[in-house]
Amino acid sequence: MSQRIAFITGGNRGLGFQTALDLKNPGVKVVIGSRDLAQGEKALEKLRAAGVDADVLQFDITKPADAQAAYDYFNSRYGRLDILVNNAGIAAGEFPGTGPEHSAFEVPSDLLHKVFETNFFAQVALTNTLLPLIRKSPAGRIVNLSSIIGSLTLHATPGSPIYDAKSFAYDASKTALNAYTIHLAYELRNTKIKVNSAHPGWVKTDMGGPRAPMELSEGGKTSAALATLPDDGPTGGFFHLGQPLPW
Ligand SMILES: NC(=O)c1ccc[n+]([C@@H]2O[C@H](COP(=O)([O-])OP(=O)(O)OC[C@H]3O[C@@H](n4cnc5c(N)ncnc54)[C@H](OP(=O)(O)O)[C@@H]3O)[C@@H](O)[C@H]2O)c1
Repeated sequence: MSQRIAFITGGNRGLGFQTALDLKNPGVKVVIGSRDLAQGEKALEKLRAAGVDADVLQFDITKPADAQAAYDYFNSRYGRLDILVNNAGIAAGEFPGTGPEHSAFEVPSDLLHKVFETNFFAQVALTNTLLPLIRKSPAGRIVNLSSIIGSLTLHATPGSPIYDAKSFAYDASKTALNAYTIHLAYELRNTKIKVNSAHPGWVKTDMGGPRAPMELSEGGKTSAALATLPDDGPTGGFFHLGQPLPW
């Protein structure tokens, strides 16, 4: 197979950047999306210095024109896309926390809309825009960066590790993204494309904060593994480090 082409949104820092490092392989070209091109170019320098075959694309997931520009970029250069890591995402306030931004009955409506726009609607729109190119891949892989706190089963189970870790807008946006994973995987079940949700772990990033138990160097492993699944790997699942999580 020729070089696989990967697109990681939000690849300029945090887990997206780490995932780009973890995809280091002469057989993979990694294109990182970055809202701020200067930040993206700094990240690109580091990736190339580390030996990753990388490029950067200015990309804001909430801008529909950027999704079309991403389609044009991959179509004109490669005629296909093999790996899409839907990594860009936002939290709803500092986590963990107890402020109104985390509450189901106090959450400001504009915050709820903003979080869903980035973490759900824009992810669906980008993926659907790029899908014709992913269909042209001999082994398309779509990884949706979810979170264990998008698990309805664990939120509804007293005593589960996340039972008291509730941040309504963020959690619900990841639950919705999980629904997209399940539905898209079902619709693509007779193709070579695999669609999975990833929980990277609670990781020390700007979003995860300094109290997170997992180091960044470990945090890209779930996304990288799902991005490079073999042909007999799973689709329509929700995983953390190879272990299935309940929806
Ligand atoms: N860290 C954790 O513990 C944890 C746990 C579970 C799931 N996750 C998920 O993993 C993903 C990455 O998280 P992280 O911890 O690496 O977060 P982060 O450190 O805050 O980085 C977020 C990345 O997303 C980008 N981004 C945000 N909004 C964007 C937009 N509108 N368009 C394009 N890019 C955008 C950011 O770009 P800028 O630099 O321009 O802001 C940045 O590159 C997220 O989806 C998050 O929900 C994280």
